Amino acid sequence: MKVMVVGGGGREHAIIKKLRENSGITEIFALPGNGGIANDATCVPIGATDLDGIVDFAVKEGIDYAVVAPDDPLVLGCVDRLEEKGIPCFGPRSNAAIIEGSKVFSKNLMKKYGIPTAAYEVFDNIDDALSYLETAPIPTVIKADGLALGKGVIIANTRDEAKAAVCSMMLDKKFGKSGDRVVIEEFLTGPEVSVLSFTDGETVVPMISSQDHKRALDGDKGLNTGGMGTVAPNPYYTEEVAAECMEKIFLPTIRAMKAEGRPFKGCLYFGLMITENGPKVIEYNCRFGDPEAQVVLPLLQTDLFTVMQAVTDGRLSELDVKFRDAYAACVILASKGYPQSYEKGYEITIDEEIQDHVYVAGAALKDGKLLTSGGRVLGVTAVADTLEKAIADSYKMCEQIYFDNKYCRTDIGKRALAAK
Ligand code: AMP
Ligand code: GLY
Repeated sequence: MKVMVVGGGGREHAIIKKLRENSGITEIFALPGNGGIANDATCVPIGATDLDGIVDFAVKEGIDYAVVAPDDPLVLGCVDRLEEKGIPCFGPRSNAAIIEGSKVFSKNLMKKYGIPTAAYEVFDNIDDALSYLETAPIPTVIKADGLALGKGVIIANTRDEAKAAVCSMMLDKKFGKSGDRVVIEEFLTGPEVSVLSFTDGETVVPMISSQDHKRALDGDKGLNTGGMGTVAPNPYYTEEVAAECMEKIFLPTIRAMKAEGRPFKGCLYFGLMITENGPKVIEYNCRFGDPEAQVVLPLLQTDLFTVMQAVTDGRLSELDVKFRDAYAACVILASKGYPQSYEKGYEITIDEEIQDHVYVAGAALKDGKLLTSGGRVLGVTAVADTLEKAIADSYKMCEQIYFDNKYCRTDIGKRALAAK
């Protein structure tokens, strides 16, 4: 079987390493992949949003199965285009990927089907939004409707900050068309939990829970990033919380999408907040999280490709998807300065014995050398019998990796440890 993975970050590297465990896969292509992924797949220089290029390549190469991992190609309809050519895919069609592609869609879906989430209002007119903010409860949360590279959410602690956020989105068009409409929602508090799930549109199988660390600096300070590290499982996701989520959030969401004529197949990511009034949805993503995939997939015991094929074929209910009874921690090694400006092009060296634990996110190959090429450079994952050991092992391995301007948070997993 020839398999193609669309995307080129740490998440895609984690998917590819896991797919390599399946002996029926003879070749894996990554579009575009990256300098580190090149060790585990054949990288093809076609961008993840170049749908014409992706489809042409898949047809010419005789690809048997495609995994579309990032949000943009999913929302743009990459799966629809590949399926038109008869290529089976893992990932939702665009009419289901809209659950991440439009916050207005997802909020309205939750309202219609009674799925717990923050109270909200939608605005497509800046004057109405600004006048609403005159009396809205503060703090408040402003969200651009469309995709915004994970930066379209602003938590405003004052009325002025809230108005500035609305103006940046609706007037200055900071996120282009994504900010034509905004959602203004209730500020919720409580621990956050990420739950990725496999779903074939009928059955939903939650994976092991995880916790992201979105802020750039220790103590959850600094700017929001794509994610500076993750641990799994998340101690706040108790059995009781899991049962409540299944009943009030996961199943209702899958059924709602089906009822809307938008069956969701692939990985549906539930971003949850465990509030005083129970778990609520903060966001849906139509894909594996990054760096959540880097802790969840290493704990998956059942063969990933087998699960993916069952999702595609609508046979998920026939599978018993198992996870290891263990803990995982992933520390992101970034370029100093991320998520703002940072330098690139520094040589990376990784001790041979830890290669299997490293997921490469932002690195390029040049003259046989691996060079930093992005903000998030590597993810280093350890699996152990305790969370303490997983965290300690991951940090130990970070010391066996060298590049100039290497930066990481030093407190990944600290909150999870305190909560246990
Ligand atoms: P998102 O990009 O939707 O994941 O949002 C980024 C982060 O903003 C989330 O991980 C939360 O920490 C925070 N956030 C989003 N919505 C809310 C909300 N209604 N109340 C409090 N925090 C929120
Ligand atoms: N780590 C958060 C995300 O993938 O959206």
